[in-house]
Amino acid sequence: MANQTIHLLGFAGSLRKTSCNAGLLRAAQEVMPANMEMEIYSLVNIPLYNGDLESNPPAAVVEFKKKIAEADSLLIAVPEYNYSIAGVLKNAMDWASRPVKDSPLNGKPFAMMGAGGGLGTARAQYHFRQLAVFTNMFTFNKPELFVPNAVEKFDQNGNLKDDLVKERIKLLLETLASWTKRFLIKID
Ligand SMILES: Cc1cc2nc3c(=O)[nH]c(=O)nc-3n(C[C@H](O)[C@H](O)[C@H](O)COP(=O)(O)O)c2cc1C
Repeated sequence: MANQTIHLLGFAGSLRKTSCNAGLLRAAQEVMPANMEMEIYSLVNIPLYNGDLESNPPAAVVEFKKKIAEADSLLIAVPEYNYSIAGVLKNAMDWASRPVKDSPLNGKPFAMMGAGGGLGTARAQYHFRQLAVFTNMFTFNKPELFVPNAVEKFDQNGNLKDDLVKERIKLLLETLASWTKRFLIKID
């Protein structure tokens, strides 16, 4: 158990090629502890939620839900749009949460982080915590990772160039590793 590799699924709520939030995920891969590995999954193919399709969901949704189910925990990069969760991310979470009896989010541990304007996506991340209550996902309270004034901390390709933020991502991942282990304990 102590040396078990933790498999993360990482996704960002921005589809931009040079997205800072996608850049945070790549930076996380760079500073990841040895006992963790992460697949970064793009939400680009997830269509708009349509309840009529719930019983026969689009292939991209089936794939996304399977990847969530197979992951030990999630690392979610949460952009802030108009003081809330970006629609791309909210839409993907809405799909993943349905139907409720078949939601891979149920009981899933996760951590979040975000890069944005003055408050570094704090408002969006607090809205995401609210979403996590209904979907029964679990994150820790601290540390939180808000990256304000993102334009100054990423290069033109959306790669993180700020070493202090990298250190804080590392701390977030170490916390996520111990947090996830609590959920991996199997009782026979
Ligand atoms: C529609 C829209 C609304 C935005 N609203 C906010 C906001 O409420 N708070 C904030 O910090 N930044 C806001 N921004 C700026 C984004 O944080 C910034 O564009 C950021 O780089 C987006 O993340 P990305 O680089 O991962 O695409 C907004 C951007 C857009 C396009």
